[in-house]
Amino acid sequence: MTTVARLPWDRVQTPTPDIVPGFDVERVRADFPILEQTVHGHKLVYLDNAATSHKPKAVLDAILHYYQCDNANIHRGVHYLSERATEEYETARKVVQAFLHAAQASEIIFVRSATEAINLVAQTYGRTHVGHGDEVLITAMEHHSNIVPWQLLCEEKAAKLRVAPINDNGELVLDEFEALLGARTKIVAVGHVSNALGTINPVGEIVRLAHQRNIPVLVDGAQAVPHMAVNVVDLDCDFYAFSGHKLYGPTGIGVLYGKASLLDRMPPYQGGGDMISSVTFEKTVYNKLPHKFEAGTPHMAGAVGLRAAIEYLNRLGLDTIEAYEHQLLTYATEQVAKIPGLRLIGTAREKAGVLSFVMDGIHPHDIGTILDQEGIAIRTGHHCAQPVMERFGVDATARASISFYNTKEEIDRLVAGIQKVREVFG
Ligand SMILES: Cc1ncc(COP(=O)(O)O)c(C=O)c1O
Repeated sequence: MTTVARLPWDRVQTPTPDIVPGFDVERVRADFPILEQTVHGHKLVYLDNAATSHKPKAVLDAILHYYQCDNANIHRGVHYLSERATEEYETARKVVQAFLHAAQASEIIFVRSATEAINLVAQTYGRTHVGHGDEVLITAMEHHSNIVPWQLLCEEKAAKLRVAPINDNGELVLDEFEALLGARTKIVAVGHVSNALGTINPVGEIVRLAHQRNIPVLVDGAQAVPHMAVNVVDLDCDFYAFSGHKLYGPTGIGVLYGKASLLDRMPPYQGGGDMISSVTFEKTVYNKLPHKFEAGTPHMAGAVGLRAAIEYLNRLGLDTIEAYEHQLLTYATEQVAKIPGLRLIGTAREKAGVLSFVMDGIHPHDIGTILDQEGIAIRTGHHCAQPVMERFGVDATARASISFYNTKEEIDRLVAGIQKVREVFG
């Protein structure tokens, strides 16, 4: 299928990089102590938010407070501190439930990361539902963590991994996706937002098409939740995965949302303490949801930090964040596209957060190194999405990824930095 490359501003009015009403970016920046530093003698410009985002003071304070005042092992103790730590942990679960608009708190499983959430589903739902000759359907824009767990499963079960194609803008070709949904398709796994391209996938439509054929859908939301409000009930997805550290929360904590009707029927992922209701050498009876999937001592402080991050974002307002970041991305796209010899990789009509590009005759690593000397942090490489690189005929890209704490002035510094790269490579 041939497509005409379109740029995001084909469909938007003249972008206005003005501040969104009620959003004071300088005040917001003051909440992030790490942004105050200089790098190589320049004020830090952090544009690597898709890799990991920084933590507001509210998150740092919540973690410190947890360890200073509330720390104890949870669920098992009758003493006061254990009860308080349990309360903190279970409150965090309810905050995540509200954040995703899930029907029940028991549908929220705390895991290590989006990667672990996807592996959990592949190894439990996947191993019990995917058999010899069956198919798992993903898209050509997935992160490796939404490819390799399914490859491992398909290898073990002699099943097939099918891949729905993307067009030259980096958008999913929906009719070809639909054509790949067949009688042997046992699960669809699709990214909500591509980390390499910034494409926002039409997840609601994907779920509708899959459900018409009774196929469940896992959504990898690692790059979506930091940028937009997500409602898993409206999307009607069966599983939704994300990582805390990209959502302004701590590392080592992530979330798997799953519909209770599916989670209930899935075997546990790992065995150990807390995931059981009784154990004898003859037989173990598993605990109820969500504990069945949380073996061992969980990352209590991580859950507390994640709650603080979500509450911080709620105070800013996800809709405000989305509107501000959209303006910034539109402005950045317009500015970098003016640079001769620069090609944007990923020009979908619906985009969030990410500006990937290559430059004629200049390796992305050289772009990243020179920008670093200017105090500007971007990412270069394949972004754990090697099939995307292959699709666009490049080995690597330079990727600037934005957050609500970035400013128009920082975008101007990025553009000036790229101009400097051009001068150096003459
Ligand atoms: C789209 C997407 N999915 C999954 C992941 C994996 O996240 P983590 O490494 O936190 O598990 C990433 C990380 O970059 C990502 O961008």
